[in-house]
Amino acid sequence: MDIHAEKILILDFGSQTTQLIARRIREQKVYCEIHPYNLTAARIREMAPKGIVLSGGPSSVYDREAPISDPAILDLGLPVLGICYGAQLMTQQLGGRVEKADKREFGKAELEVLHTAGLFAGLETGSAEYQVWMSHGDRIELLPPGFAASAVSNHSPHAAIRHQEKPLVGVQFHPEVSHTLIGTDVLRNFIFGLCDCQPLWTMQSFVENTVTAIRGLAGEDRVICALSGGVDSSVTAALVHRAVGDRLTCIFVDNGLLRTRESESVLRYFREKTGLRVIAVDARETFLNELAGVVDPEKKRKLIGRRFITIFEEEARKVGDARFLAQGTLYPDVIESVSIKGPSAVIKSHHNVGGLPEVMKLALIEPLRELFKDEVRLLGLELGLPAEAINRQPFPGPGLAIRILGEVTAERLDILRQADVIVLEEMKKSGFYHQVWQSFAVLLPIQTVGVMGDERTYENVVALRSVDSKDAMTADWSRLPYDLLGRISNRVINEVRGVNRVVYDISSKPPSTIEWE
Ligand code: XMP
Repeated sequence: MDIHAEKILILDFGSQTTQLIARRIREQKVYCEIHPYNLTAARIREMAPKGIVLSGGPSSVYDREAPISDPAILDLGLPVLGICYGAQLMTQQLGGRVEKADKREFGKAELEVLHTAGLFAGLETGSAEYQVWMSHGDRIELLPPGFAASAVSNHSPHAAIRHQEKPLVGVQFHPEVSHTLIGTDVLRNFIFGLCDCQPLWTMQSFVENTVTAIRGLAGEDRVICALSGGVDSSVTAALVHRAVGDRLTCIFVDNGLLRTRESESVLRYFREKTGLRVIAVDARETFLNELAGVVDPEKKRKLIGRRFITIFEEEARKVGDARFLAQGTLYPDVIESVSIKGPSAVIKSHHNVGGLPEVMKLALIEPLRELFKDEVRLLGLELGLPAEAINRQPFPGPGLAIRILGEVTAERLDILRQADVIVLEEMKKSGFYHQVWQSFAVLLPIQTVGVMGDERTYENVVALRSVDSKDAMTADWSRLPYDLLGRISNRVINEVRGVNRVVYDISSKPPSTIEWE
């Protein structure tokens, strides 16, 4: 069975939560894709989705520059769910009226359901009030012909609308966010009730489909893959390995900028447990020499990126006749380049090791291109990777080099590694490791005065960074218990020679970033 046979298309009008809509639908085991709002009705018909979601967006339908989708989409006979801006656009295109509301509705609101079929099947009318999340300045004033209100809120007489004969529905609230307690019911009613989808999108069927596709693509040719031990490259390698077996060779470059025992544990796991063919390159000295005397963070990043490519190329050439490069590109990277562009696309550009395929004339295999990060984790578990490896915190490509401010030397790497391992140990022991997005130590390029025994010391400062985040685009510092902070500080100062002070970073992103660089 083709797992893409039943899909929902999401047209993106620029909402912050468009990706969330997609993730929520996929959690229900239905495949969906995000496309720019201006996809034509003709193209949509060719793609044959089971239903369409019009996302929210920051515009007002009356703005001169407002994104307007092809009105013929509403005549395709397909179920359409408009969310916030999407519902307002549908209203306007079908002859209703949208106006600026006297009161903006932002945050939690109580929804009273008037009609319990369709989007609200299984819920109750009347006194039962459901919590939903609103975020809008405009509201639907006059319904288009054929429509009726199916729910109201304090400030929205048309908080949800439905066509009385056609499968066209709209909600003023956001069913995709967790504060909308009935969000899952609403989305399920849309995809299973109105669109009549089957739950085909499971990681098990994804593996079967993708393995077949990779075999078709690679034929008898060899594939190479850069393995870092991070979640994306590990899952990519495991998946491609399942498809082509020994014809996959992974290249693991130890750049000397990894955490304590990282390289041993990655190699041991993949070689012993999975039988994957891994070439390990010990390039610790090369990178250290390269970084000698370099203080500027951008320069560090560039040097590391370039050197990585040279080493990778060299090793790949030794593999011989490889024709494919497997890479762990994820769906958010794909949509960011085609959807309505936000500044986020620019900020993240430096994170990818670009340039490999062009230089090497290899064709790409990107088996994770359709997946969100949470799906990659599920896929990893499905492929039998250990939960420990799947649920680890993200670690930047340039590694500890961007957590050592100023020059990177062997000695400073050693100090940072010792501090970092204590942070990890304590975070894991207290259970906070999996609650926060990332937690790590940073070595600052300054010394401060301290006193140990009767002696005055003049030693390094370590900054502790721990943030909560959903996608690293924004983050807040973690409210860790004082006791835990105290334990980490004590241990670092007592156990790591050369450190006499620990500080905790209480900056959010923006305006700070997660890494200090
Ligand atoms: P910033 O510091 O920009 O980091 O707030 C956002 C997230 O990205 C990670 N990061 C990287 N990941 N290669 C990566 O794969 C990189 O060059 C890189 N730089 C930062 C960072 O750890 C955080 O999760």
